[in-house]
Amino acid sequence: MIFSLNQTTDHPSYAALNAWNDDLAAVTGERWGIDVYANATLGGQQEVVMLVGDGAVDMAVISGTALENLNPDYRTMNLPGVFDGIDHQVAVTNNLAIMGELYSSLEESHGITVVGMFTQGARNLYTTAPVETPEQLSGMRIRVQESDVAIDMINAMGGAATPMPYGEVYTALQSGILDGAENNEVSYVTQRHLEVARHYTLTAHQVGLDFIVVHSGLLAGMRPADAEAFRASWLRASANHTQLWKDETAAATEQMLAEGVTIHEIDRTPFVERLQPVAERYLTSDVARSLYERIRQEA
Ligand code: GCU
Repeated sequence: MIFSLNQTTDHPSYAALNAWNDDLAAVTGERWGIDVYANATLGGQQEVVMLVGDGAVDMAVISGTALENLNPDYRTMNLPGVFDGIDHQVAVTNNLAIMGELYSSLEESHGITVVGMFTQGARNLYTTAPVETPEQLSGMRIRVQESDVAIDMINAMGGAATPMPYGEVYTALQSGILDGAENNEVSYVTQRHLEVARHYTLTAHQVGLDFIVVHSGLLAGMRPADAEAFRASWLRASANHTQLWKDETAAATEQMLAEGVTIHEIDRTPFVERLQPVAERYLTSDVARSLYERIRQEA
């Protein structure tokens, strides 16, 4: 299966996907496997999600924010405060009793099924000048993912949200079009954004997630034994990714310090207070609210 990833080959998702390929081939007698195209060579996530729907690309890692644009119920998964941390997020998102309906909600309309997710860990702010309070963030152009929730979060925190594809952020920071962006430590280091925005502030405004999506027709065409093996293999891949993620986050932090980045540990309260209304604003439909409540029960 042709698999699209927008990360570099030193990102833990690349390692986890290649290990998944080996496992999948072993348990399906080599009938199934994934061939990972890294560095967004097949396109940015907004294009690739459509290619998966068409079946031109078989599978991809797509940020949770990109699915919001196809089904607004996905916004629940991207709200500040919905997940307490990585372990809560992994447990909930592998529980099909909670997630099943959402994961199949794009099959008829778009031809896309969600298999599960890889955590993105906590997303934090990084900027060209130091930021420790919402007041200091005022007027700064901060790159966000192309989603309403992502835009609203940064605006609520005090910044001027600037939606832009992931692959354009380095140059925009370098040329001064942006004053900052937000992402986890691993992306900040592997994308080399640490060279062009030297202040990293631990706002932890969102525990992000990346969905693993597959062309629905492919999944439907698997023989039952392979489909079962695929699911079991996925659960092993998920556990492996979570461990790699934790290790690589620690390593990225070490690297940030070694490369002279200033890490700002702050009192998060003023940011958390500003983010609360954002979560409330998106919990208007019955589906969104009951999903949110079900996820919170598992915290
Ligand atoms: C993270 C995430 C990606 C996403 C990126 C972004 O790196 O894992 O899937 O595309 O953030 O901010 O766009």
